[in-house]
Amino acid sequence: MEVLLTDHGAPGPYAGYRRLRERAPRLRTAAGLLVLSGYRDCEAALRNRALGKMDESLGFQLAAVPEDLRRQALRRFRRTMLFRNPPDHTRLRRLVSSVFTPRHVEALRPAVVRRIDALLDGFAGRDVLDVVTELALPLPVGVIGDLLGVPDIDLAVAAPWVRHLVAPLEPSADVAAVEAAVHAEDQLAAYVGDLLAEKRRRPGDDLLSRLATARGEDQLDDDECVGTAILLFAAGFETTTNLIGNGLAALLGAPVQAALLRERPGLAGHAVEEMLRFDAPVQTDGRTALVDTAVADVEVGAGQVVLMLLGAGNRDPEVYTDPDSLHITRRQAAPLSFGGGLHFCLGAPLARLEAVELFPRLLARFPELATAGTATWRPGLSFRGLARLPVAPGRPA
Ligand code: HEM
Repeated sequence: MEVLLTDHGAPGPYAGYRRLRERAPRLRTAAGLLVLSGYRDCEAALRNRALGKMDESLGFQLAAVPEDLRRQALRRFRRTMLFRNPPDHTRLRRLVSSVFTPRHVEALRPAVVRRIDALLDGFAGRDVLDVVTELALPLPVGVIGDLLGVPDIDLAVAAPWVRHLVAPLEPSADVAAVEAAVHAEDQLAAYVGDLLAEKRRRPGDDLLSRLATARGEDQLDDDECVGTAILLFAAGFETTTNLIGNGLAALLGAPVQAALLRERPGLAGHAVEEMLRFDAPVQTDGRTALVDTAVADVEVGAGQVVLMLLGAGNRDPEVYTDPDSLHITRRQAAPLSFGGGLHFCLGAPLARLEAVELFPRLLARFPELATAGTATWRPGLSFRGLARLPVAPGRPA
């Protein structure tokens, strides 16, 4: 598989995905992993209740890492809903799910718009700026901070922790990366633990207070509580940052599509779905067979891991016409980018809201917006995003 998927970074993984889909859409690796790259296979696997979460789905990337370090890595994170099966998954998800309903998220719209306008105010009169550090990162971090009840998250401190934390989710994770993740998780846990203690003393109308004060059958143990707070914190920023960055890079590379969105801002909902499809922030998703079963007509034994290449499914020509081009008016199958089944992304309505409000505003206020240098991509296959995207905003409208 590595041979077929070597070209991460600037050119993107898409040529490798195409080769894989054409030559081995249901690839069994030497280590026994089943790798799916077709849209329909991935979608069915996400919904397959014989597949679930076990330590293997998290740990298969870490084969080269000693056992004790492996266990330490993501000790609390793995106690969150993301890595659990029912009934624990149901209990952990229920506690926070009401905050992410369309109605609740809708109430956040004015605050999201205020944050966008304030960030775009800072673009006026600038020659060149890095849109990742000045927009794609601070917007979702500010929004998740509002929701959690931590409106002044210190980005310079927190962003590196989160980056280290998610490193073991990459197939290329090595010992040094996993050690850094363990260290980052301890620091994040201490930071979040202090916040939770404060919320317990003085609860507010925010998500951390809800986690800190839940009682009865909803009550979380300490590791679950800290882990859930870290999960929301991390999920709230890395992924949405990448949606904004990857989406903007795609638009800047397709000026006809950008012009269309500027003329017809009402297309923003479709445009964001297409950006999610075209260059998904989360490229892979994993499950473990809970029992012996068949997945995409392949026998899979209990304990074996199924890896779904969401980004490959999103470019499947059997489902999308002209899959390698961005068409913001596309109305075809929903992208796989938020996963599916029981673990479908809880934050999807929030991520969509931020992007749908942002792109038309950015294009309307800065009609001359253009790239102004080379975009730098972060290494990695599971998370795909930009480190830097220099742009020239041009004269404000
Ligand atoms: C789960 C992607 C934004 C919270 C997931 C999953 C994906 C995903 C693929 C499924 C993981 C799995 O099946 O194992 C994304 C993308 C985002 C985004 C592409 C932005 C564009 C957010 C935001 C939040 C969030 C803003 C919250 C603040 C979660 C949570 C889960 C999850 C809590 C776990 C759900 C569960 O296990 O039941 N996300 N996410 N995500 N996401 Fe997101």
